[in-house]
Amino acid sequence: MALRDEKDRQLDSARVDSVDTHLTSQQGVRVDHTDDSLTAGDRGPTLLEDFHTREKITHFDHERIPERVVHARGAGAYGHFQPYDGWLAEFTAAQFLTDPDISTPVFVRFSTVAGSRGSADTVRDVRGFATKFYTRQGNYDLVGNNMPVFFIQDGIKFPDFVHAVKPEPHNDIPQAQSAHDTLWDFVALQPETMHMMMWLMSDRALPRSYRMMQGFGVHTFRLVNAHGAGTFVKFHWKPVLGTHSLVWDETQKIAGKDPDFNRRDLWEAIETGNFPEWELGVQLVPEADEHRFGFDLLDATKIIPEEAVPVRPVGRMVLDRNPDNFFAETEQVAFHTANIVPGIDFTNDPLLQARNFSYLDTQLLRLGGPNFAHIPVNRPVAPVHNNQRDGFQQHQIHRGRTSYFKNSLGGGCPAVSGDFPEVFAHYQEKVEGTKIRRRSMSFKDFYSQATLFWNSMSETEKDHIVAAFRFELGKVDHIEIRAAVVDQLNHVDHELAILVAKGIGVPAPEQEAIPNHGHSSPALSQLTAPVTG
Ligand code: HEM
Repeated sequence: MALRDEKDRQLDSARVDSVDTHLTSQQGVRVDHTDDSLTAGDRGPTLLEDFHTREKITHFDHERIPERVVHARGAGAYGHFQPYDGWLAEFTAAQFLTDPDISTPVFVRFSTVAGSRGSADTVRDVRGFATKFYTRQGNYDLVGNNMPVFFIQDGIKFPDFVHAVKPEPHNDIPQAQSAHDTLWDFVALQPETMHMMMWLMSDRALPRSYRMMQGFGVHTFRLVNAHGAGTFVKFHWKPVLGTHSLVWDETQKIAGKDPDFNRRDLWEAIETGNFPEWELGVQLVPEADEHRFGFDLLDATKIIPEEAVPVRPVGRMVLDRNPDNFFAETEQVAFHTANIVPGIDFTNDPLLQARNFSYLDTQLLRLGGPNFAHIPVNRPVAPVHNNQRDGFQQHQIHRGRTSYFKNSLGGGCPAVSGDFPEVFAHYQEKVEGTKIRRRSMSFKDFYSQATLFWNSMSETEKDHIVAAFRFELGKVDHIEIRAAVVDQLNHVDHELAILVAKGIGVPAPEQEAIPNHGHSSPALSQLTAPVTG
């Protein structure tokens, strides 16, 4: 059966249509009435034995689950992905990326990061772009954003960062991202945020439509070919409609008039047959070139400039079906960076390593226990056999006496034979060193790519960035924090720092004697040549 039909069949078996037939309790008992509770006498108290009222109210009381700790607001859709041809097989054993005859079903969820579930779509924020591929070799999740870099280099800072980004704890204000002292205090004290803050203050943070948004895996991942050889990879999604933004004034008005602007646009486009499409592309870096860049490939605050390593097209994704039920599918979908398949592996990027712990951990709470892979939107199409048993919300009826490995009674011993790439095998990277809680010196250049970004902007884009900094910093109460951010901007570009300072009532900074770029960056021409396939 084709993979897409298999996923449809799975989803179909879970679908329940609303029908106007007899009303029943959850136990299937027909009830006569659901407008009045059972009382002692005409005006008496409600009786404890009224199981119908109790069940109905109890179920309602438990309808909400915790929202995601970040990326709480989102919109999702189903679709499919197909590679153009097989060129990537030289680098990866992942069939869904290399077999042009395989169309792999996907579910994609787009999101804002900072706002709560009910917040507006068009705020200045990063957008999540998470894709679940239901491949024959198991589920692969590419959990990316619409910007190619991140705020911090090590996941241990993520709780601090998110506490600074979210509304302030004493009054839950402000709900929109950015314009508050805690975020800018964090930024001023953590210069590694500067490159991402340039992206965040740019028009990229105001996408016109999810259909017109790029996506990035952000981290350097690793492809592994059938012979076990590794190649570093960055993943890119390019929208066929092009990348388009709103302008700041529009976003604020739309947030008031139609807070559902982006999710409505996605829904309506799919309903009317205007299916959005993206091209998946990769940047490849041979392992031998790991240290040929002026930055560390494991540092998620850095891009690999496309002039040095071009993006090469791999395949096409189309989103062509809206979910049937927002809660069941878009809310309960569980993405996880550690959901990988043979042919794709991690690197030692410390941000990625923390993410590989965090997603499963949070989903155990958010989705109520260890069995959320049984939820239809999360179920792989690849067969699942193991001895994991019991737990809250167990939906499967495992038969037989044995649920341990190894056993001589039969039934609980799924085969563990076979070789890579039929079975997953962790990439055999050599690891050595003493335990140390300290950031590598190779992560210490905080500014040169922020400068590269600024220099690549048109005059209009620069005007928008300056206006955004002025708007956001102009709302910061503590003048010292405004000045500290301007000081950071002075490391990025002196002119930028002066322009921002002028608009927010802080003195213009002196030109830096020696630009503080820390680790030196080579000219682009010195960077490694692209890999050829
Ligand atoms: C959720 C992307 C860094 C923890 C998400 C989602 C995306 C995303 C797209 C929403 C998934 C969905 O739609 O359901 C990223 C990217 C990162 C990053 C691109 C950096 C490159 C981190 C880090 C941590 C983290 C460093 C923690 C150490 C979480 C958690 C959720 C989440 C806990 C909620 C997941 C859930 O409840 O299902 N992230 N994230 N993220 N992220 Fe990240």
